[in-house]
Amino acid sequence: MENQEKKFLKTEGNEWFKRNVHKISDNSPEISVLCNWLMPFKNKINNILEVGSGCGNKLSQMCWQLDSLGLGIDPSSLAVDFATSNYGERCIFKIGTATTLPVHLDQFDLIHFGFCLYLVSRNELPKCFKQADLLVRPGGFLSIVDFDPLKPHANQYVHSDGLKSYKDKYYQKFCELGNYTLVNKYSFSEDRHHFSMDPYARTSLTLLFKEKK
Ligand SMILES: C[S@@+](CC[C@H](N)C(=O)[O-])C[C@H]1O[C@@H](n2cnc3c(N)ncnc32)[C@H](O)[C@@H]1O
Repeated sequence: MENQEKKFLKTEGNEWFKRNVHKISDNSPEISVLCNWLMPFKNKINNILEVGSGCGNKLSQMCWQLDSLGLGIDPSSLAVDFATSNYGERCIFKIGTATTLPVHLDQFDLIHFGFCLYLVSRNELPKCFKQADLLVRPGGFLSIVDFDPLKPHANQYVHSDGLKSYKDKYYQKFCELGNYTLVNKYSFSEDRHHFSMDPYARTSLTLLFKEKK
């Protein structure tokens, strides 16, 4: 396991949780957008995996809106405990990372990367994509919330020396695998629910469909 993943499992996941738990909402705008896009397929979405599930509020929202069950994976033990206590009705939460996904389980109807791909070590990314692809059923969906830079680049992770934020168009990388089709894209920024003219502030939610063949 790479340094970035080890550090999140050991300390940084819990640090993220402590900084953010008081800010969470049970009704996130981008999750509502995602669920509206998926509403025509609601009866085909019965199990959802969120990678980087943090406090669990967003997975819970997806599961209520889409009438589904959920599994959340996050390196923070504090976040997993909090999510289990507060959102355990429809979801279970486990400690892990984007490269230790439960590939032995049945496939999921929807996998959501919840603003965590920018934290995955670069040399772990192929493994992460491979595991996610194994776990999305053909005819299912994959969604990603992450930074949306003009060009791939890395910054120092502001909360801890030695860690990086890797900004890239991850949805394009999945489309390049050949079996994913871009369904929708919603561009916003961390503090505004609309497109930002500043490319450094841009984030996006994308929804991909995994073709059946
Ligand atoms: C920006 S937060 C997003 C949390 C939640 N999805 C949300 O939108 O509120 C990033 C989350 O990713 C988790 N994380 C960090 N590295 C990860 C990795 N390699 N794999 C999966 N999750 C990771 C962190 O612990 C943190 O909970």
